Amino acid sequence: MLVSAKEMLEKAVAGHYAVGQFNINNLEWTKASLQAAQECNSPIILGVSEGAGKYMCGYKTVTEMVKAMIEAMEITVPVALHLDHGSYEGSLKCIEAGFSSIMFDGSHYPIDENVEKTKELVALCNEKGLSIEAEVGSIGGEEDGVVGKGEVADPQECKRIADLGITMLAAGIGNIHGKYPSNWEGLSFETLDAIQQLTGNMPLVLHGGTGIPDEMIKKAIDLGVAKINVNTECQLTFAAATRKYIEEGKDLEGKGYDPRKLLLPGTKAIVETVKEKMELFGSVNKA
Ligand code: G3H
Ligand code: ZN
Repeated sequence: MLVSAKEMLEKAVAGHYAVGQFNINNLEWTKASLQAAQECNSPIILGVSEGAGKYMCGYKTVTEMVKAMIEAMEITVPVALHLDHGSYEGSLKCIEAGFSSIMFDGSHYPIDENVEKTKELVALCNEKGLSIEAEVGSIGGEEDGVVGKGEVADPQECKRIADLGITMLAAGIGNIHGKYPSNWEGLSFETLDAIQQLTGNMPLVLHGGTGIPDEMIKKAIDLGVAKINVNTECQLTFAAATRKYIEEGKDLEGKGYDPRKLLLPGTKAIVETVKEKMELFGSVNKA
């Protein structure tokens, strides 16, 4: 069964750990993420970008696939199915398709428009029992066509959005999607601290989870981060394991070209990456 992310994030805030959001792209990604969560006895948020939703033949297909896999794999840990960096229209479609959580990313709108649109979606999500994430400032880099300037959030604007009754708040604090450049200045903990002071127990979300040093992750959790998004890292480990399999000629031995064999090393690599992150975020045995 899919659940809203509300309860798992409230528990994370109280317990000083973070729940991981792992983006999915296909059946293997979903299977690996669910398996890791079950083995770690950890709650999990499955993120679906608009691009990935399209790739998987629409949000309805994704919802039905995830629900059926939870049942068939006998997954008992809490699982939220969450739209990642959604547009207003995409948010409506996911609510309709049966997602249990959405992110409306209105960070590219002027703040008044971000507030208005977020407010409307909060009302809708409350009515349907979904959790909702909003964004202030922006995440640098690019993810699936979503390009951010990397503007550090204004804590007062964060408070305005938090006061609308959202479930979780993503704020730009110098974080970037994809690989971090060698001259990256690091996270702005000063900003994170100021946001936490103003928003109280609001679960804060750290995007761009790939490549952030472990100590920074832990400090961010200490300052109220209760959800951390990881996407690129699973893609990198999947690609590396698949490349190794092919370079070693395993695809040519036996029936190594059978997709069920060819995709296995990459799938196993995702399981390991997700488990390592759950360990780091402190969500193991928190289901
Ligand atoms: O929304 C998803 C993320 O923020 C993931 O970022 O690809 O850098 O891990 P990442
Ligand atoms: Zn993101």
